[in-house]
Amino acid sequence: MAVLIHKVFLFGALLATAIQVASITLPNLHRRQAATTPAASLAPDVTAAAAPAQPWNNPGQFHLNKSFVIKAAPTTRTYEWTISQKTIAPDGLERPMLLVNGMFPGPLIEANTGDSIVVKVTNNLANGTAIHWHGMFQNGTNWMDGSGGVTQCPIPPGQSFTYNFTVPNQWGTYWWHAHAASQYVDGIVGPLVIHSPNEAHLGHYDEDVIVMLSDYYHTPSPTLVSWYLSTASDGSEPVPDNGLINGRNYFNCILDPQALFPTHAPCHSNAPRSVFDFQSGLRYRIRIINAGSFADFQFSIDNHTLSVIEADGVDMQPVDVHRIPIHVGQRYSAIVQANQKVNSYWIRAQMNLNCFNEENPALDASVKALIHYAGAPASQTAHSFDWADEAWPGRCLDLEASMLKPFVVRDAPPADIQVILDMSFQKITKKQVSLGYVNETSWVPLKKAATLFQANKGNTKFAASQFIVTLNQTQTVELVVNNYDEGSHPFHLHGHQVYVVGEGKGRYIPGESPLNTVNPLRRDTVTLQTFGYTVLRFVNDNPGMWPFHCHINPHLDAGLMVQFLSLPRAVKAFKIPAELKKMCTA
Ligand code: C2O
Repeated sequence: MAVLIHKVFLFGALLATAIQVASITLPNLHRRQAATTPAASLAPDVTAAAAPAQPWNNPGQFHLNKSFVIKAAPTTRTYEWTISQKTIAPDGLERPMLLVNGMFPGPLIEANTGDSIVVKVTNNLANGTAIHWHGMFQNGTNWMDGSGGVTQCPIPPGQSFTYNFTVPNQWGTYWWHAHAASQYVDGIVGPLVIHSPNEAHLGHYDEDVIVMLSDYYHTPSPTLVSWYLSTASDGSEPVPDNGLINGRNYFNCILDPQALFPTHAPCHSNAPRSVFDFQSGLRYRIRIINAGSFADFQFSIDNHTLSVIEADGVDMQPVDVHRIPIHVGQRYSAIVQANQKVNSYWIRAQMNLNCFNEENPALDASVKALIHYAGAPASQTAHSFDWADEAWPGRCLDLEASMLKPFVVRDAPPADIQVILDMSFQKITKKQVSLGYVNETSWVPLKKAATLFQANKGNTKFAASQFIVTLNQTQTVELVVNNYDEGSHPFHLHGHQVYVVGEGKGRYIPGESPLNTVNPLRRDTVTLQTFGYTVLRFVNDNPGMWPFHCHINPHLDAGLMVQFLSLPRAVKAFKIPAELKKMCTA
């Protein structure tokens, strides 16, 4: 470990601030005991009236089409997208949302390893937008990563930009989402699936299904964010009004006026839940994506065991569980056998209320969809029961790293360099608003500029709002991440998979805190536990400007982000398309 990149920092001082913040927010913590909400008992499971049509929702795209040829020769998959605002009612309550081609969730991208993906994005919104391909390595095309203020300036209203990248060496379950302001919370999200004949568990399942989970808000995100970033919130995140599975759920309209942000919008209490058709005897690969912005879910299916085979695009040795905790940005695949009595069964995505500071009386935290076996009577309800065994501890932790063993065995290489990152929330600015800090920096996106373009010009100095760690040569980087916050944080590193070599309570103590370098879990989004540490390693063999940020949207808005400038000499030599740079002057 040659260099220690850690700006002079007094742990004591930071701890004092962290404790101070914690004590200030204690009144909120007392509100945390809401294990059941009144909504849970009030919401009937049977909807009386016929379900209204939802022309913006395409359930068919979540059951992957068998005519897709996984062994096809490499090709280009071309998409044309138009993003615009539209009022729709995913759970029955009408609200304006931001939609791609009028759809929510947005269109599926499906390709094979070796393919090129070309997406022409036309922005018909009032604000700039950018689309990020979560988990794509973008090796050699960092400028196609779609991170507003980092790898591009947003696509201006009325203009188009064409993303174009190849996927040479990865497969599995990914997703795409807007990466400008808080736009993805308002609907700009969709699934991205990459197939490969080299997938470890190909042939172990008959059908391939996507289950996108998300928390959901009846108030457009700009209102939520400005409340969150004001003294009024005291650092408490807006609590969801509902949750969705593949963009659908039921909502009991009577409850809406009690919410923190009453909408008084037209509301129809008979919105349908998502239904997944099962055929007895078949094996289903279920790709679970948490495409939400705040809530951590526990996913389960009544009577059906989940055999986990993938985490964030990395094949795993199968492990059987009844529940999968999944935080924002993460994905899992599980194989489910349709081996139960012909009937209907609940799919449950239970939001972890312990991770919220506030209560929302309108929220039914038990988000549901249905599995319907062919031959069972059609129904909007099931009479199945949740697993009797306990849920995972409600502390918003990941599935234990020791349970997830990558199928392709790889030991974590020894660290060449160590970077220490301290995550905290502090009220140290004049406004006394709680902001997120990585070491001493609270990120604010640049306006009309992108850090990648600055690095491409050869800059080595960046604005004070940008915490940039420069990695001059390819080596194994060890990230020691200390979380001084009472909340847990799903951190995503763009462009890489990381080895999760250690995690625990308290602060990392070199030489004492245990590390596992033997085939450790690899993934791209890792949850930092409350007041704990996490040790990650990655090989920075991918030149570019790569964000490492909390995927809880309000926390990103509050500044919880650092960037890695990897291989600056190669970045200086990047031939970045002129039309991309031009968007900074619009
Ligand atoms: Cu899915 Cu920078 O995020």
